Amino acid sequence: MSRVAVIGAGAMGAGIAQVAAQHGWDVHLQDVDDAVVEAAIAGIRKRLDRLVEKGRITREDADAAGERLHPVDGRLGDCELLIEAIVEDLEVKTKVLGELVPRLPSDAIVATNTSSLSVGELGDRLDIPGRCCGMHFFNPAPIMKLVEVVRGRDTDEAVVDRVADIAAAWGKQVARCADTPGFIVNRVARPYYLEAFRIVEDGIASPDFIDDTMKTIGGFRMGPMELTDFIGHDVNTATTRTVWEQWNRSARLAPSWLQESLVSEGHLGRKSGRGIYDHQADTPTCVIQVVENAPAVSDELAAAAMDFTRHASEQEATPEQALVFARILTALINEARWAEHDGVAAPADIDTAVRYGVNYPRGLLEWRDSIGPERVSGLLRELDASTDDDRFAEPS
Ligand SMILES: NC(=O)c1ccc[n+]([C@@H]2O[C@H](COP(=O)([O-])OP(=O)(O)OC[C@H]3O[C@@H](n4cnc5c(N)ncnc54)[C@H](O)[C@@H]3O)[C@@H](O)[C@H]2O)c1
Repeated sequence: MSRVAVIGAGAMGAGIAQVAAQHGWDVHLQDVDDAVVEAAIAGIRKRLDRLVEKGRITREDADAAGERLHPVDGRLGDCELLIEAIVEDLEVKTKVLGELVPRLPSDAIVATNTSSLSVGELGDRLDIPGRCCGMHFFNPAPIMKLVEVVRGRDTDEAVVDRVADIAAAWGKQVARCADTPGFIVNRVARPYYLEAFRIVEDGIASPDFIDDTMKTIGGFRMGPMELTDFIGHDVNTATTRTVWEQWNRSARLAPSWLQESLVSEGHLGRKSGRGIYDHQADTPTCVIQVVENAPAVSDELAAAAMDFTRHASEQEATPEQALVFARILTALINEARWAEHDGVAAPADIDTAVRYGVNYPRGLLEWRDSIGPERVSGLLRELDASTDDDRFAEPS
């Protein structure tokens, strides 16, 4: 039987352990002490029970998966793969893995679930650059379909292939990418939130109008504003800041002052009861006032937004909806193009990543192709002319 060691039994480690056990792997879990591991195993078994109650899996399959979960108990020598999901701190990860790696088979793969640290640097510090790889699951790991398989500077290609095969065998969609800040999703999805905040800051539209537009015209499952309330503005701004700093403070990825002010006021979203919406009411109500000070929209920009929207959506949009939808979707498409340009990933991997990592209705580059690249560029030029920074600049 294939064996995996999962180090760190928190939100991500427990989720990854469940996925592996449900797909027939023997899982050896480790955390700071036995009580944490036992609690995590009990929690996973409870989740498996709930899946049985809902008719998603059989009792036999749940019991078999539950039986495959064990504390590490010195069995590292049998593991072909180790996945670490401990605190996001390079020093801690290096120290913990430094003690475990010598106990693994000499060809075992060491995968990190890090969201923001360099896979290559971790591999170098552990002195195993060839067999250290990123295996970036999304939260909650048993539900979210995507795994980004991150190739460190010196990761062996055979290691990348094997990790991709394992993720696929565990029922995941795989997007391969380079070891760059934010990998694919945490970078390419940023304009969904950032451009929406800018539209509010510019006094063009209210958050609830933006949310409604992105769902009805764009087919997105959640609007950007309600999604940031759900994620938590503290978490969302922290990721924005990290990615922005690491990508040379690009104007395209710059933090929103409105979102940062929500954080400093303690309005973190659903978890604090209030963010952009008041969540204490029966139906969440938007509590952000929009100062209507929008500069006039040129006829050329309005026409380009309408033309773009007609080719991007089958829904009939008003000019106001077209302006909002076209601005956010073009910003996303442009970021996907920049990611391809910067060598982050191939177009098909970028599209897989946004479809399964953030559940977009279509891949962004495929969407660009169906809208027409020239039409997208035309709108970008109009947007570029109407803004005073270079966030709508295209890659050459
Ligand atoms: N939460 C997310 O949405 C998410 C998504 C993708 C990736 N990640 C990454 O996954 C990793 C874990 O995140 P999480 O959200 O599961 O965190 P978490 O806080 O829920 O879990 C971390 C676990 O690591 C354990 N740990 C700490 N020091 C340890 C040690 N010395 N030895 C063994 N275990 C130790 C903690 O006790 C805890 O159980 C981080 O690198 C994070 O960046 C998180």
